[in-house]
Order: sequence, then structure tokens, then C-alpha cells
Amino acid sequence: MMGVVVRLTRILALCRGDLLLQCAGGFHQGASGFPATWTAPPAKMTDQENNNSISANPFAALFGSIAEARQFVAGQKEQLRQQTDDAAESPDDSDNSVSESLDDCDDSVAEINRSFLSQQEICEQLNINHMIQRIFLITLDNSDPSLKSGNGIPLRCVYLEELGSELDGQDWLDMNNVEQALFTRLLLPEPGKFLICMTSSGAPNLSAERDAGEKHIVPFLFSCFQRAKKEVTKVPENLLPYAVRCKALTVSNARTVLLTPEIYQGQDVPAQVVDLMLEGLQGASKSHDL
Ligand SMILES: *[C@@H]1O[C@H](CO)[C@@H](O)[C@H](O)[C@H]1NC(C)=O
Ligand SMILES: *[C@@H]1O[C@H](CO)[C@@H](O)[C@H](O)[C@H]1NC(C)=O
Ligand SMILES: *[C@@H]1O[C@H](CO)[C@@H](O)[C@H](O)[C@H]1NC(C)=O
Repeated sequence: MMGVVVRLTRILALCRGDLLLQCAGGFHQGASGFPATWTAPPAKMTDQENNNSISANPFAALFGSIAEARQFVAGQKEQLRQQTDDAAESPDDSDNSVSESLDDCDDSVAEINRSFLSQQEICEQLNINHMIQRIFLITLDNSDPSLKSGNGIPLRCVYLEELGSELDGQDWLDMNNVEQALFTRLLLPEPGKFLICMTSSGAPNLSAERDAGEKHIVPFLFSCFQRAKKEVTKVPENLLPYAVRCKALTVSNARTVLLTPEIYQGQDVPAQVVDLMLEGLQGASKSHDL
């Protein structure tokens, strides 16, 4: 197939500035205290407001520092202003009728609108990918860790190479492929063999390796459930439905594991359930003793 292979890291590299402009466009604080919706940057922001909106924005973390982020946003705003000015000046250097020039102007506003929207979509896609990686500790992205955005990425993930090939080289997880990705992960006899480092600090970390490479699927799904529960309490409101769906996915897969354990070869499901319950009991009695 001649399809264009879209690499997430490429998109990231191309869009960093734009993404931040759009992600840093400002959040409304929802009643819950979560940022609720993305909005276009207001026409004029005071320095103070600007500083606050950038530093309070979780996606500012895509950048090395707030200063770097601010610089990008300033650059992007300048570019946007110039584009708008150019569009406004066009009547002077052409014989076009006024209405046609107005159309041109509308077109360029629509263009800016469109690119703004698609950046918003890319931004959301990136954040969904990161969230799925954090919950299930799986990835389709084996690019150089220094190219990844760093923040909000788990230290180790199981790399699902074959699934990536099946998806024509797509290197991010989304709500359309997460179910298949999780099922693929649960069927791996030796997930630990497919671990990759997700951050440039390749320092050994046994706990990160153990979590991502967990071979026993019952405790693995239980940990996924707990991580999903945590995401539900902390993601911005626009990601909340996806976090909730990921949590439901851990439950539905646990049900499949319990009802049809024969699908998952090499897993002693009843023994894993008993172990998990005993662990839970010990944990409960320990905290009771304290
Ligand atoms: C905003 O941040 C810049 C850089 O840190 C600083 O120089 C400036 O004084 C800040 N402005 C306000 C109003 O806090
Ligand atoms: C651009 O977006 C704004 C806000 O979403 C909307 O009010 C406006 O009509 C749009 N303009 C064009 C030309 O699409
Ligand atoms: C090891 O990984 C865990 C989570 O997987 C993390 O909480 C911990 O801080 C890491 N330790 C080091 C030394 O990086």
C-alpha cells in the first residue's frame, strides 16, 4: 500500500509552536476546578494574564520551560497578526471589487479558523495517546525518546510493533485502536521482552519495568484499572469521557478474562485472582494495624 505514513513525532516536531499557541489559548476553569474548554486566545491579554494562562496550562509542559513556551506564543501571535494585516491590505494592491476583497479576507479568517481547529484536534489526539500510554503502559511509538514530548509519558511501555504495522504505521494510540491494543497486550506470552524506554533518561527502574512488563494479566488489569481511576480524577474535562472509557475497558477485559480464561494461554487465572485477593486482604489488615 502506498499510503502516507504519518509519524506522530513528525507532527509533534512540525506543530510544537502551533500546538502550544492553541493549547495555551487559555482554559476556562470549570466548576470542578478542571480546565473545561479550549478557547481562542483573547485579542488582548495583559502580561500578567498571559503569564498566568501559560504557567497554569498543563500542556505548557510540552515545552522545556515556560520562557520557551512564552517565546513560541509571542512568535505565533506575531505571525497571525501579520497574516491578518496582509489580508486586510490586499484591497490596496489590486483592482478587485470591495466585495471580492472582503471574500478574500473571510477566506483567510476561515483558513486560520480551520488550522486552529485541526491543531486543536492534534493536541487532543496527542493527549489521548499519552493518557492511554499512562494507563495501559503500551505504545505504538518507538521513536527516539528525545523526540517525544517528555511530560506525562510513562518511563517504560510495551511496544506493540505488529499492531503498528497492521495500522499502516500509525504510531499513536487512540480510542479506535485502544481495545485491540489492550487485547494484543494481554495475549503476549512475554510482554517484558517488548519493553522500551520512553524517556531519554534510560536509567534502570525496576518498578517501571515490572509494572509495564507484568506478565500476569489479572494483576496487570487491576493496576490498569487503578491508573485509569487516577486519570479520571485529574484529566481536563475534554479528556474525561476517554478516561472513563479506558476504565470501563479494564473492567470489560477483566470480565472476559474471568469468563473465558482459556483464550489467554499460559495464564493461571484462578490462582492470580486468589493471589490478588490475598494481597488486598493483607494490605487491608496492615493498614488496620497502623
Ligand atoms: C511575565 O514573565 C516575564 C518573564 O518571566 C517577566 O519578565 C514579567 O515581569 C512577567 N510579567 C508579569 C506582569 O508578571
Ligand atoms: C471563525 O471562528 C469564529 C469562532 O469560532 C466564528 O465566530 C467565525 O464565524 C469563524 N469565521 C469564519 C470565516 O469561519
Ligand atoms: C521509577 O518508576 C516509578 C514509576 O514507574 C516512579 O514513581 C519512580 O519515581 C521511578 N524512580 C526513579 C528513580 O526514577
